[in-house]
Amino acid sequence: MISSAILGEARTHYVTLFHNDTQLYKKGYENNYKLIMKILNSIISPSDSTSQTPSLPANAHVLDVGCGQGTPVGSFFVEKGLDFTGIDMMGSTIEGAKTELEKRRQNPNQKLLLIHTEMLEFEPPPGETYDLILAIHLFYHTPVAEIKAMLLRFVHWLKPGGLFFIASSLAEEFQDRKLWAEDV
Ligand SMILES: C[S@@+](CC[C@H](N)C(=O)[O-])C[C@H]1O[C@@H](n2cnc3c(N)ncnc32)[C@H](O)[C@@H]1O
Repeated sequence: MISSAILGEARTHYVTLFHNDTQLYKKGYENNYKLIMKILNSIISPSDSTSQTPSLPANAHVLDVGCGQGTPVGSFFVEKGLDFTGIDMMGSTIEGAKTELEKRRQNPNQKLLLIHTEMLEFEPPPGETYDLILAIHLFYHTPVAEIKAMLLRFVHWLKPGGLFFIASSLAEEFQDRKLWAEDV
């Protein structure tokens, strides 16, 4: 088992890379995000009515767990006019996402909530459920028990027939960075 000290160190390393060196992060993951956006686009706009790709209702509400600064993912959904809730454990990140996404809001009735919270402590507002839950590059430093706990919670937060989208990287990609992904 990986120790909590190592996990703590991994979390610091990873959060620092994402938050302090966003350009490096974005460059490293450029192709990965292209693929993610292609898949998300196919969920919003299935190519034809016989498509096997699951799709979202026009008035869908999306929950983005670990939403980061809100681009490219949050902005994509907000610009499509969908309701959007983003949560993130970093206060400055949520503030950045708020500024970014408010600019892209399509109409005053569109729901846009950005919440500074640790995902394990988040509870959706009473009666709120989601058509799509996203966990994009979120779980690298999360202990397996916490990942399992989160997956179970997502099940309760989804509307019937709702979709869950997870994007991550292969453990092999991180083998040279000893703090990442081992045993996770
Ligand atoms: C690599 S970034 C990805 C951000 C966004 N999903 C994207 O793809 O652009 C991971 C984000 O998840 C957030 N995060 C990590 N662990 C979290 C947790 N336990 N609770 C809430 N947010 C978390 C980090 O603060 C960071 O903003």
